[in-house]
Order: sequence, then C-alpha cells, then structure tokens
Amino acid sequence: MKNIRNFCIIAHIDHGKSTLADRLLDYTGAVTEREKQNQLLDNMDLERERGITIKSHAIQMDYIHNGEHYILNLIDTPGHVDFSYEVSRSIAACEGALLVVDAAQSIQAQTISNLYLALENDLEIIPVLNKVDLPSANPEEVTDDIVDLLGCDPSEVIPASAKTGIGIEEILTAIIDRVPAPKGNPDEPLQALIFDSVYNPFRGVETYFRVINGKIKKGQHIKFIATGKDYYADEVGTLKLKQQPKQEINAGDVGYLITGIKEAKEVKVGDTITDAKNPTQNAIGGFEDVKPMVFAGIYPVDTEDYEELRTSMEKLQLNDASLVFQPESSAALGFGFRCGFLGMLHLEIIQERLEREFDMTVITTVPNVSYYAYTNKNPDEIVIVNNPTDLPEPSTLNRVEEPFIKASIITKADFVGPVMSLCIEKRGQITNQTYLTQERVELTFDMPLAEIVFDFYDRLKSVSRGYASFDYAPIGMRESKLVRVDILLNSQQVDALSALIHADNAYDIGKKMCEKLKELIPRQQFDIPVQAAIGAKIIARETIKALRKDVTAKCYGGDISRKRKLLEKQKKGKKRMRAVGNVEIPQQAFMAVLKLN
Ligand code: GTP
Repeated sequence: MKNIRNFCIIAHIDHGKSTLADRLLDYTGAVTEREKQNQLLDNMDLERERGITIKSHAIQMDYIHNGEHYILNLIDTPGHVDFSYEVSRSIAACEGALLVVDAAQSIQAQTISNLYLALENDLEIIPVLNKVDLPSANPEEVTDDIVDLLGCDPSEVIPASAKTGIGIEEILTAIIDRVPAPKGNPDEPLQALIFDSVYNPFRGVETYFRVINGKIKKGQHIKFIATGKDYYADEVGTLKLKQQPKQEINAGDVGYLITGIKEAKEVKVGDTITDAKNPTQNAIGGFEDVKPMVFAGIYPVDTEDYEELRTSMEKLQLNDASLVFQPESSAALGFGFRCGFLGMLHLEIIQERLEREFDMTVITTVPNVSYYAYTNKNPDEIVIVNNPTDLPEPSTLNRVEEPFIKASIITKADFVGPVMSLCIEKRGQITNQTYLTQERVELTFDMPLAEIVFDFYDRLKSVSRGYASFDYAPIGMRESKLVRVDILLNSQQVDALSALIHADNAYDIGKKMCEKLKELIPRQQFDIPVQAAIGAKIIARETIKALRKDVTAKCYGGDISRKRKLLEKQKKGKKRMRAVGNVEIPQQAFMAVLKLN
C-alpha cells in the first residue's frame, strides 16, 4: 500500500486536464504507440467533439522512482457543472490532486470550486502551472495568483507544458513525494467507494471503485449498501488502458468490478460496496441520489414513432442512469415523454444521442426546473411541478417555491458592472465581492436556478467579452412569485409553449415571446394571431401575416429539377416541424422563450 498513489486532476475547462493526463500516461509508458489516440481519457465520440470529459474514468500507471516501483492511479473527473456530483465522488476516491492552472488564463471559477471540493476531502494539492510554452503565458503573475489562493510557497508550483512535455517528470516526482500513500486496513470488512460506472453492452455495467478497507476478491459475494442489492464479483481487476483481471484488489487500490448488472441504474455513484456475509458497519459518507435539475418534454416529430422513441429512451437509460423519463401527453404534441436531465448540456447530449444512435427526430419543449407548489387546501403538501401545465390553478395556489443556487463568477475588474447588471436582471442578489488580485474579482450571487440553466452562459460570455468564468451549487428552495404564461396560436392554446415566469417579468416576456414566435413560425396561407395569456387574460398579441406567393411560383417555366430541389429543401426544413391544429411550428419555436434577448 505504501507505494500506491491515488490522484486526480482538477482544472477549469480547457486549462489542459486531458492533455496533461495523456502526457502522464505517455511518459509512464502506459500507452503503446498503437493505442495512442488524441486524448485518451475521453473515449466517447461525442466527448471528443465537445472537448468535455463527460464520464469519469480511471487509469493505472507504473512508475519507477529511486529504484522503487510505484502504482499511480489517475482518477479522471468530469469538467462540467452538470456533472459536479460525479466530480465530488472522484475526488473522494483520491489522496491528492493536481490543480492545473492555465498560465495565460490564470485562476477561473471552476479552479476554485474544484479546489474547495478537494480541500473538503483533505486532498494534498499540487499546483501545476500549465501552458508555460504559450507566448501569452504570464508565469510570474499566475504563480502569484496561485500562491495567494493556496497560501503555498512559490517553489511548490510546478511550471509545465502538457503540450511540449516540460515539467512532466517533476509532476510525477511530486505525486510520489507529496501525495500521502493510502491508509486503510486490509483485514477489516470490505468497504469500497463506487466513483463511476460505465455501461458495456456485452459485459454489463462495469463498476469503478476505490477500496478503502478490506479487499475485494474474484467470486466474492458482495453487497451495495445504498441499493441493498447483492451480487457475485464475476471479475475484478485493475484499469490499465485495457482491463487486467486480478484475483483480488486490496485496500488503497482502485479497480473495476463486473457482476453481470445490465442496468446503469443499479450502480449508484457514491454507494459503498461491502461483503454480503461480513458487512462493514460504515457506509462511506457523502452518498446522494443524483436528482435531475432540468425537465423538458421530448416528442417524436412523427407521432407514429412514439413506441420507437420509448424503446430508444429505455436503451439510453440502460447506460445513463441520470436520465429519467415518464410518459406524458400534450394536447398540442400528442404522446411523448417528460424527461429529467442533470443540466442543459446533458439535455443536448441526450437529444444528440437519440438522433445519432437511434436515428430519431424529436421535438424538445421549453426546459424548466422543478418547482414546489402548495395549494390552499393542503398548504403543507408539496406538489412537484416538472411541467408548467402541472401548476395548480392560480385561485387554488397558496405559494410556489423555486430552486436557488449560489453562483460564483470570476471576471476582470473592468467587467464587474456589466456582469452585475446581468445577474440582477436574472433576479440575482449579490452576496459577496472579493478582489482576488487587483485585476480579478470574484462575485457571488444567490440566484434562481431557472435563470441560469438557460442562456446565462452565453450572455455572461458576451457581457464580459469572454473574460468571465462561472460555477454554481444548489442552495435549496425559496418562495417565488411565479405565473404560467400560455401561448395561443390561432386562438388555440398550445400547452407545449407554456412557461413558468416570475410575475414581475411576465408581461415583458409574454410580449417578447409573441414577437419571437412571429419571427420563427413560417407564414402560412392565412393570418395567424399569436397571443400570450396569464389565465384568461391576454397580455400580448402579434399577427403572422398570410403568405401571398407559392414558393415554387418563381420556378414556373424553369426546369423541373430545380423545382424538385426546392421542394426537397422545403421538406427537409419541415422535418423538425410539428403541425398543431393547422399551424406548423418549427423546433426553434419551442425554445423561443430561452432566446428572447
Ligand atoms: P476539458 O476536457 O474541456 O475539461 O478541457 P481540458 O482541461 O481537458 O483541456 P484540454 O486538455 O482539452 O486542453 C485544452 C486546449 O489546450 C487544447 O487545445 C490543448 O491542445 C491545449 N493545451 C493543453 N495543454 C497545453 C500546453 O501545455 N500548452 C499549449 N500551448 N496548449 C495546451
């Protein structure tokens, strides 16, 4: 055990976590030339395209230092707020963390939030100043920033370049010298932390764990404490680039487990594995059942594809335990599903996977967060509102609560004004303002989650010209004055376009929604009134004017192939449209409320 080191890499997005991981694997010979891919730890296609580590993994490296053989377990952490619970469990499986800071960008919001998570878990922090090869790097200044943040000595900061290989050996030496070896007792009952799982269609779910005490053996009868289910350990092993089956994994080490579990839901990140006959008395702390934060309806574009959509969603859920869904129906869209996601990125990923892996064309409705409503009849009973249409009638409504978050934003001093205005517009209340350096300020706000899950990132980027980073954590439910704004097209209410909006903004947003819908819904053979209403009261109105000309009219007399092309093009454009009554609504219109500015 004394020669094992368990560590993770924490960094703000794009500061070089994956590149550094890659470099370390390279240097320790964990990778053969043939196995080399661009970024080894992100192996889903989608991940590579987006450059975001979606699912955490782990990898073991062997390293000889001063004649001694060390085992270094690198536990990868996802880099996006949607997956922050997974980050916290990966961190809990380590004794040390490389804190990677971009030498040009310096400390950003996620640097700090991940650092706090690491400190809460008593991790030894090794600061790495990455990208020193960049001409725009500011090594002295950024080292000062790191020293200020950590209260460490400047000599502890390792200058590095994951790109050129500067500092890699120093980093490996620091991991061995500074990160403590795992403690734990191999003779106690088994106690292992699940920090990740991966779905494998052939072998079932692979569970990744860190043994805290005891050992886990091939064939052992084991139990998962939180789910209460028991299994036989068909296979255990360590994670090199390929899995290496072993007879047992001991206290302090990291490995994988295969038990024939077929559904991702059965394996919960944060759960404790123990022996079924001789269980530990202590579950590892910090277990949480991850809850979806954002809800939206997903409907097939073609109503006949409903059953196929259900099958596709079920298959997706097998390998993505955080996706939840249940059937719902909409007067406008027919049968579909209300789905829960960890965040907007997760929603986009699911939508994309449905299209790529299952060839489904779907309509996604306005996303919303989960509200608590209370009625006058039963003021203590929570009515969970995951869909605007579930909000009780205004006359029976006692109160509504909405989820709040603590938002942390780091920006340059020049942009404090615009950032504050944006946060206030988004119903934020400033709780703190700290100058990290003369140039850089950290602002903290309490804000409604609903205001930030949607277009907040983009707005923040634009008001700060890219010089702001952002992170958030939930802080519970707070009372709020919410109303449901309904949309009527051609005098018919379209339930899938309803949104829950703070009463103070309802008129303004209702008006903007009508304007936006007018712009997004194609003109048809007749005039279409677009109205916004709260209850029976109309609060805004626009009209989509009737179309006068046939699109193909200008081709008359022209050659037929050109005409066909135009019709094809029209058909393609139509793919993502749904006819509601006699009005064709394109996908973008369902998202209109998110894009009002
Ligand atoms: P996420 O996976 O999105 O969290 O990002 P990451 O932190 O893993 O960053 P990644 O390794 O993908 O690096 C981001 C970009 O920085 C890539 O284009 C890298 O090629 C580049 N990069 C990483 N390290 C260095 C470095 O030391 N020097 C230079 N010049 N570029 C680097």
